[in-house]
Amino acid sequence: MPQHLKRLIGVFAVFIILFLILHYLLTPSSFGELGHYRAKAIPENAFKELHYAGSEQCSKCHEDIRKDKAIGFHAKLKCEVCHGPGLKHALYAGQFKAGQLPDSLLLYKPAERKDCAICHQFNAARLKIQFDTINTSMIHQINAIEHNPFDKITKVEFKCIECHNPHQP
Ligand code: HEC
Ligand code: HEC
Ligand code: HEC
Ligand code: HEC
Repeated sequence: MPQHLKRLIGVFAVFIILFLILHYLLTPSSFGELGHYRAKAIPENAFKELHYAGSEQCSKCHEDIRKDKAIGFHAKLKCEVCHGPGLKHALYAGQFKAGQLPDSLLLYKPAERKDCAICHQFNAARLKIQFDTINTSMIHQINAIEHNPFDKITKVEFKCIECHNPHQP
């Protein structure tokens, strides 16, 4: 066999052995037990701390708001999209009277103009709703700086929720 082929085979052999060693060292112990993934990933994720309760839980105590929301433009938005993770609140708020919730159980109320602008601010890269279609998969965009319909002259900036009910905009 020519000398250069022998060297090439030698180099390949070294790489293959290196690969097998690294493969052995780096493969997690539970890999492949159940399929082409780490079996331990399942319990690891199952034991992660929960943060969200889900809108069905919110409705148990805030049925009035669920009803309002269900017939408006925000019907499809989940409560926690706006109010943030609410599991602790949903578990413990029931033990307190109105107006007496401790700070740790209060949820965020997105009352500022910037909060609504997260979804509604005009963005040239987003598809715009066309008025001749009924496609509601897109969000109506406004220019949050100029959109202040009742006060074009004095330019007093109202909060969005002074004109729009956040639960039924
Ligand atoms: C076990 C009953 C219960 C559940 C479930 C519940 N809440 Fe409440 N929530 C309350 C009570 C009681 C208050 C206090 C009412 C008050 O102060 O007027 C409250 C107040 C609030 C407030 C106003 C807080 C403030 O700063 O004024 C928001 C927002 C809210 N809840 C959102 C939610 C969301 C979102 C969920 C679902 C993740 C939820 N709630 C689930 C009982 C509940
Ligand atoms: C588009 C964002 C948005 C969504 C979605 C939303 N909220 Fe709110 N929510 C607000 C804002 C903003 C306020 C503050 C209103 C204010 O200060 O007048 C508020 C206030 C509240 C309050 C305080 C009492 C009140 O009426 O002002 C409760 C309780 C509440 N929301 C519960 C819910 C529940 C339950 C859901 C789901 C069914 C929900 N919210 C969905 C934005 C939202
Ligand atoms: C998480 C994204 C999100 C947030 C935050 C949000 N919205 Fe919306 N909004 C939507 C979606 C989705 C619709 C339904 C599609 C549409 O009509 O544009 C909608 C619809 C609306 C509409 C009706 C538009 C129309 O079709 O005439 C108004 C008004 C509105 N939202 C106001 C607000 C206000 C005020 C806030 C802040 C309290 C807010 N939105 C926060 C997603 C959002
Ligand atoms: C002074 C009252 C007022 C304020 C403040 C206000 N809006 Fe409006 N908004 C209106 C009125 C009236 C309309 C319907 C007429 C129009 O389209 O101009 C409207 C329409 C909309 C629409 C539908 C636009 C469309 O193309 O049909 C959206 C989305 C909206 N507003 C979101 C917001 C958001 C987000 C804020 C805060 C940054 C806000 N509005 C602040 C009064 C207001």
